Amino acid sequence: MSTNENETELSEDGGHVPNAMGPQDEHWLDEYSDVHMNVFGAPLRVMDHGSGTRLWDIDGNEYLDFLAGIAVNALGYAHPAWVKAVGEQAALVAHTSNYFATRPQIELARRLVSIAGAPEGSHVYFGNSGAEANEAAIKLARLYGRTLPGALPSMGGKPARILALTHGFHGRTLGALSATWKPSIRKPFEPLLPAVEFVESGDTLAMVEAFAQTGNGPYGKGPVAAVILELIQGEAGVRPLDADYVKAVRSICDVHHALMIIDEVQTGIGRTGHWFAFQCDALSGGVVPDAVTFAKAVASGFPMGGLIAFGKPLSDLFTPGSHGSTFAGNPLGAAAALATLKTIEADNLLRNARERGAQLRRGIMACASPLFEYVRGQGLLLAIQLTHPCAHAAMQWALEHGLIVNAVAPDALRLAPPLIVSETDVDEAVAILGAMPADLPNDR
Ligand SMILES: Cc1ncc(COP(=O)(O)O)c(C=O)c1O
Repeated sequence: MSTNENETELSEDGGHVPNAMGPQDEHWLDEYSDVHMNVFGAPLRVMDHGSGTRLWDIDGNEYLDFLAGIAVNALGYAHPAWVKAVGEQAALVAHTSNYFATRPQIELARRLVSIAGAPEGSHVYFGNSGAEANEAAIKLARLYGRTLPGALPSMGGKPARILALTHGFHGRTLGALSATWKPSIRKPFEPLLPAVEFVESGDTLAMVEAFAQTGNGPYGKGPVAAVILELIQGEAGVRPLDADYVKAVRSICDVHHALMIIDEVQTGIGRTGHWFAFQCDALSGGVVPDAVTFAKAVASGFPMGGLIAFGKPLSDLFTPGSHGSTFAGNPLGAAAALATLKTIEADNLLRNARERGAQLRRGIMACASPLFEYVRGQGLLLAIQLTHPCAHAAMQWALEHGLIVNAVAPDALRLAPPLIVSETDVDEAVAILGAMPADLPNDR
């Protein structure tokens, strides 16, 4: 698999290390750390180019990519339809301000509303990332909250609240971070948004109690404007919520006139084998959200995200000046997204995600590795639960053996290959995973 001069390098246990770091990688990684703020830690390799499900580093090592830029590159690398669409759009017009509209942007918004099955009158807001998509959702929820009776300041009301779940991840901008649970990334930046509270994930009673805190008097809180949640908590280790719990949350929101916002930044655009995870009954129990956020895979590598508000009354809460961004709905991104959605449809990639996901799951369990406890997730968003906390060592070992996966938790590996992944790609990945030593050391 490797064209690297370092092919003869041996691992600590004397084993063959086909994709060890080469001299060009080392040189450019030194350069990287000289000029970049250290927010991501040291990159593992410097990548040069990709094709299909494969990436090549700057030393010429080849990798089978089962991470896809963290669930982004739905069409893999250099997909001809994507390259053509972006190239053609770049030659036409790459950017206009929002004083002007473009055709790809309009077509994309219509298509997104359609694949989400959103009702007549639903509208889209475009941003540039997952965090921005959730910022927009949080702002919309704030406006909605002001329409709730108990939140009217003129009548002694209290600010409406937004409820988020423990272990949830919604991004790192200050608004999205306010709804992101992990204390180590949230606490250093407090104080964050007021009236955002965390409720124990999966605990229906805790949700009922959080809503019940609404009330007058010194201990009463404002009404709940919205609950924001992921159906599969991706960054928490690819942990699906229980569908009955999701249904219960929907019912509680309905009773209290609160919005249910589903963050589909990681799960959306085909990753679970459905356009959106809420369309997968096994994950959602068939609930319909009031708003959905999306990003990552929508433009298969072009930075884009956004929000779909279901129905006209909610959509109409944003009026000129409520929100915006210079790049929102950028035509180059919109062309990339349209090419992505059209290719997913034309090439039946939703079905491929379901079938290859099932094959991957079966293959991993058939390895009967003492390192692998079980596989969780849906479609092509999966995690292998490891029997001990060695996920970083496992990720490193896989990389050195030509497979990209990531340590999504101390004891779990995430697999999120491009939706174009083939049967032979899956077999190859399973063969590499199956060869992984079971006695990898615990991460420090
Ligand atoms: C569910 C979810 N929401 C939001 C985000 C933030 O997206 P971005 O990194 O594009 O800002 C992520 C990123 O991993 C995510 O998984």
